[in-house]
Amino acid sequence: MTTPPSFQRRIAVAVTGASGALYAARTIAALLAEGCHLELVFSDYGKRLLLDELGPEAKVERLIDLLVEKHGDAVGRGTFVVHSNKDMGATLASGSHRCDAMVIVPCSMKTLAGVANGLSRSLIERAADVMLKEQRRLVIVPRETPMSLPQLRNMVACAEAGALILPAMPAFYQQPKTIDDLADFVAGKILNALGFEQQLFPAWKGE
Ligand SMILES: Cc1cc2nc3c(=O)[nH]c(=O)nc-3n(C[C@H](O)[C@H](O)[C@H](O)COP(=O)(O)O)c2cc1C
Repeated sequence: MTTPPSFQRRIAVAVTGASGALYAARTIAALLAEGCHLELVFSDYGKRLLLDELGPEAKVERLIDLLVEKHGDAVGRGTFVVHSNKDMGATLASGSHRCDAMVIVPCSMKTLAGVANGLSRSLIERAADVMLKEQRRLVIVPRETPMSLPQLRNMVACAEAGALILPAMPAFYQQPKTIDDLADFVAGKILNALGFEQQLFPAWKGE
């Protein structure tokens, strides 16, 4: 992997097998447009949901091209690398690797349980564990409804360990017209949580 320049923010984005591939795609496109260096990891079901929900073109190998086609050349401002979720020797598996923050979007209840219990069964779970132990920003975007008591407890455990729980819950006060508007809202909240001034939806003006 080429080392990105030190001024470039490095962010891990994990995509797991919960419904909401559009949230992942919009978040990745927006972070690349911010000029970030992304370390991407897709679980097997995360890859499957990309295809199920975004169509047969949305293969991981083609994803960035698709994002450029949809969101324009600004996506090319960033750089990225894709890690295998089975590679426990990848950079993200170590706290010595400088990665500022991580977002799991969408986050399945299975991966949530793994993170809540420090299981580190995959690179995604290990990288999340690293974020927590190093006290770096970890944003978890769970998607399930309704939720069982163990699932609710797993969210509490992650929050107590320092993660930010940011459920995939779009709002309607900005009067969305399209599904993309809903995805923009969730991706915008994720960018805010990562410290970016985002333009994906307008801030509430208090009127
Ligand atoms: C079409 C489809 C939709 C799914 N949606 C969800 C979901 O919204 N939330 C969830 O927690 N799991 C969902 N699942 C189940 C997860 O994909 C499954 O638990 C998987 O083992 C998660 O593995 P991962 O966390 O390694 O991606 C869905 C599965 C399929 C096939």
